[in-house]
Amino acid sequence: MNIAELLNIKYPIIQGGMARISRGKLAAAVSNAGGLGLVGTGGLFTDEFIKEYEIAKELIDDDKYFGVNLVLIEPDREEKLEFIKNSDVKFVTISGGNPAKYVPILKEAGKTVYCLIGNSKMAKKCEDLGADGVILEGLEAGGHLSKATSMASLIPTIKATKLPVVAAGGYADGAQVLAAQVMGAAGVQMGTRFLVADECEVHDGYKEAIIEAKEYETDITGTLAGDPVRQIANDMTKQSLEYEKRGANEEEFIKLYTGTLKRAVFEGDRKTGSMMAGTSIGLVDEKQSVAEIFEELKEEYNKALEDIEKAKKFF
Ligand SMILES: Cc1cc2nc3c(=O)[nH]c(=O)nc-3n(C[C@H](O)[C@H](O)[C@H](O)COP(=O)(O)O)c2cc1C
Repeated sequence: MNIAELLNIKYPIIQGGMARISRGKLAAAVSNAGGLGLVGTGGLFTDEFIKEYEIAKELIDDDKYFGVNLVLIEPDREEKLEFIKNSDVKFVTISGGNPAKYVPILKEAGKTVYCLIGNSKMAKKCEDLGADGVILEGLEAGGHLSKATSMASLIPTIKATKLPVVAAGGYADGAQVLAAQVMGAAGVQMGTRFLVADECEVHDGYKEAIIEAKEYETDITGTLAGDPVRQIANDMTKQSLEYEKRGANEEEFIKLYTGTLKRAVFEGDRKTGSMMAGTSIGLVDEKQSVAEIFEELKEEYNKALEDIEKAKKFF
């Protein structure tokens, strides 16, 4: 079972929802290139999200479609849900909260629903709720995190559910797509890989930070507060970790975090911006168009297929 067939797309690659970042232009470009692009609701007010949905609709080829990512932590989630329910969007991912109430509503509205999860236990829950698939995102991912690594949690999750399992977190190379497929994944969701795309509307400073950073140059902040977030290490993350160590009060944290995502996305502030990105920054080393990214993924995937022949010699 792979999502290329299940979702009627050319390549089994979903571009994940990214707060304030995965806008209409990026989503349409990914879908037009053969993957499945998502317009995110995260970090956007409902009217801003609707505007991005309209942009994607305008840019999408007639024979393609895009999906949306509904983030449940957002205060205006019900408004966004109402819009999505009544729109012609076919594919919805749900993240950032308990999907129990939302899966049945979206299924009732005729949508294909995949839930973003962090472990095998959640996979079974989503299956029982009637979801169509799950996206298993491991510790390597950019943004909000689960506890186990992508690789270690993939097989237990596949075993725990009959649903297709899309692998996410740390995947940016075609060889990894093949590896995930070999482990039984139905496809791969990528976020960080698309942050440097020409069609991704983040500040150049953000893109350059990703290109320059090595795979070990991210920090996980917010662990003590129960909401770990992976982002490129900088002055802000160092300060945050220091605050966590000495048990700073809520006010200090709020002051530190306020405006950090905006500063990263719109100003490219590499010192104090929250440049959320995964460990796959070590694999991302140039700005490319989405079409070029897919071309490269294809080459890497096919090269890895050839390498499998050599690997057989070891056993
Ligand atoms: C900057 C950034 C913002 C993100 N925001 C969201 C979000 O709003 N909703 C969501 O479901 N996932 C979000 N994610 C997770 C991605 O959708 C995706 O699952 C993740 O990036 C995959 O791991 P990777 O970064 O290693 O490719 C975000 C990731 C990044 C890098």
